[in-house]
Amino acid sequence: MVGNNLTTVNLISPIQELMPLVEARMQKFTKSYPIDFRVALEKLLVYGGKRIRPKLNLLVGRMLNANSDQLITSAAAIELLHTATLVHDDLIDGALFRRGTPTLNSSWNAAKTVLAGDLLFSHSAKLAAETGSLEIIRLFADTLATIVNGEVTQLFEKSEPTNPEKYYRRIYAKTASLFEAATKAAAYLSPVDEDVIDAVSMFGREIGMAFQIVDDVLDFTGKQSTVGKPVASDLRQGLITLPVFYYIESHPNDPAIEKSLNMVNGGLADDAITERLVESIRDSGAIERALEEARRYSERGIRALEELPANNEQGVLIELALELTERKS
Ligand code: IPE
Ligand code: IPE
Ligand code: MG
Ligand code: MG
Repeated sequence: MVGNNLTTVNLISPIQELMPLVEARMQKFTKSYPIDFRVALEKLLVYGGKRIRPKLNLLVGRMLNANSDQLITSAAAIELLHTATLVHDDLIDGALFRRGTPTLNSSWNAAKTVLAGDLLFSHSAKLAAETGSLEIIRLFADTLATIVNGEVTQLFEKSEPTNPEKYYRRIYAKTASLFEAATKAAAYLSPVDEDVIDAVSMFGREIGMAFQIVDDVLDFTGKQSTVGKPVASDLRQGLITLPVFYYIESHPNDPAIEKSLNMVNGGLADDAITERLVESIRDSGAIERALEEARRYSERGIRALEELPANNEQGVLIELALELTERKS
């Protein structure tokens, strides 16, 4: 199984007893569908990933004394929203592996895959509504709009000359916005004031940015067996991420860049050129620079959280934020 190297949260977590309840709440809707559909959905939910977003939600909720039942519901809603975006994302990206296992779109046509994603979206929305919090319902709607906007921008601006600001906007939209929603939702369910909501939102947002930068680095440094998807998938799709920006900055005239990205555009991805480019990027210092940037984001997030009174959960959240920039999967 791909995934769990986030040891702190897994081993000493004060939320360990809550996770099975979150899993159960995520699965409670899968019963009444045709058998093939149900089996596929159950597999999707059981072959889970790292569950990082619900863990963040639960830890922040415990840190701030959130209502437990609402918290479990919001954690399940967040992970279902995440899973739904992955089902559609893999269809959009033509990705055949995720979490070390074949994606739905690798064996199903687009019609069935789209519907499986829709179903997960709908159940996520139902759970968000079950929290009874108008703020959470609004947060979910806004976050979903932001994620879709990020995916649309990425799809339509692929391989265009772009800049790091656009990159940061894109990774906020597609990833950090949901991390922010995970921590903010927990604060909405807690007896706290505006400053606390702002502090935990910033924590979620900044570590979400760090998480996506590390994800983009893993595209170059990870092994397929641990990351769960082929190496350099982003580059092969013509997606310019932070290590590529840094590489272009230091090697503006490397013809491999244009060739590699143009080939993708023309549907003629040339493995030899892409592989050489991956090697050049790995050897150029661009990876280390990107990781430094990820650590800066994560440190900003930690500083925001440290403004709040310390407790056990806060300590675990800080450990988790530090581990996210060291992760290998
Ligand atoms: C994958 O997220 C999509 C990104 C935003 C990078 P995760 O790496 O959290 O995926 P799972 O849930 O653990 O599989
Ligand atoms: C996944 O985006 C994030 C969303 C689903 C919004 P990516 O396409 O960059 O992530 P991976 O590489 O498939 O996990
Ligand atoms: Mg993808
Ligand atoms: Mg994608």
